[in-house]
Amino acid sequence: MATLELRNVNKSYGSGLPDTLKNIEIQIDSGEFLILVGPSGCGKSTLMNCIAGLEDISGGAILVDDADISGMSPKDRDIAMVFQSYALYPTMTVRGNIAFGLKMRKMAPAAIEEEVARVAKLLQIEHLLERKPGQLSGGQQQRVAMGRALARRPKIYLFDEPLSNLDAKLRVEMRTEIKLMHQRLKTTTVYVTHDQIEAMTLGDKVAVMKDGIIQQFGSPQQIYNDPANLFVASFIGSPPMNFIPLRLQRRAGQLLAVLDSGQARCELPLDALQGDLEGREVILGIRPEQILLAQADADAQSSIRAEVDVIEPTGPDTLVFVTLNQTKVCCRMAPDAAPRVGETLELQFDPAKVLLFDAQSGERLGVLGQAQSQAQATEPARKVAQLKGR
Ligand SMILES: Nc1ncnc2c1ncn2[C@@H]1O[C@H](COP(=O)(O)OP(=O)(O)OP(=O)(O)O)[C@@H](O)[C@H]1O
Ligand SMILES: [Mg+2]
Repeated sequence: MATLELRNVNKSYGSGLPDTLKNIEIQIDSGEFLILVGPSGCGKSTLMNCIAGLEDISGGAILVDDADISGMSPKDRDIAMVFQSYALYPTMTVRGNIAFGLKMRKMAPAAIEEEVARVAKLLQIEHLLERKPGQLSGGQQQRVAMGRALARRPKIYLFDEPLSNLDAKLRVEMRTEIKLMHQRLKTTTVYVTHDQIEAMTLGDKVAVMKDGIIQQFGSPQQIYNDPANLFVASFIGSPPMNFIPLRLQRRAGQLLAVLDSGQARCELPLDALQGDLEGREVILGIRPEQILLAQADADAQSSIRAEVDVIEPTGPDTLVFVTLNQTKVCCRMAPDAAPRVGETLELQFDPAKVLLFDAQSGERLGVLGQAQSQAQATEPARKVAQLKGR
């Protein structure tokens, strides 16, 4: 177990090229599980390679247990990595591949045998131990690559999309296995994924990256409930958050977001929000599960009548689409409560759940007291603004 700190880490692949990593600040406690998410090309693998020592950093420092390891060679860092491309030894069997790192560390043969059997069972590859990588499917190779890392007990595990080539069922099984294993071993882990469910279920902390910049670093709940900007809000969540453009108004001292379904209007009071927001062009964000069917005694000020355009049953939920402010809006409902196409619904918005973003910059606006106390969550947004020179 070890703490990991990235202090103002920068990485450039050469002059003339844009910086691949910009002022990365991350700190995780011993035993924590950090998830890195972000679009393709945002720098996730580069960051992993820098931590492992396979790439030199261009600025800043990487600290493990408060000691700067930035200049150390990979073999001295005691970090095990599973690469996005599995990089197995093609001439060795699966058994040889998993045992390799242990042999290099001069572990006793009987102990190696035991360790190989343990990870092979965990990864469901016991029947493949005598095969060579060329005789395996992509998903099987991926599990062998994981086995090679898991056979070791390093200070830190780095996993770069370790489940991306598995079929859906195996992926879910492996996700649970990884969680169980982490609960047992408590090894500090950094894990890259494109999968939102993996990000939400596995991570103690999540870092959302874009263009080499950490957009937000926080707990999965902070990232989901309290996104620092429009990018984070749109990246996490499936179906994604609804974004409704509007101009904020003030009437009789009350700040209002006006919603219009074509057949009705609603003036949603937003008094809990802070700042001078009157007249601002904003994007109102609300998640599909936060738009409810209005109860008979609902507050008329925060509900709106709208006609159902489309319905998409997904099994556990039914997605119901309506149009508000000429924007398609998704509501997530229980299948037995779902309406029919063409039906008119009374939809209830909870003003406390509504998020606002600046229409131009995408920055979060009018942050509620709760969100503001999470200085950590909003700090990256401020940094992004600084980096953009604002
Ligand atoms: N050796 C290199 N030389 C120059 N540029 C590189 C090099 N390796 C990566 N890059 C660039 O750095 C950026 C980040 O690449 P990286 O592989 O870290 O992205 P990623 O977030 O892991 O993407 P993906 O999700 O597709 O795996 C990309 O624009 C990539 O082209
Ligand atoms: Mg990558």
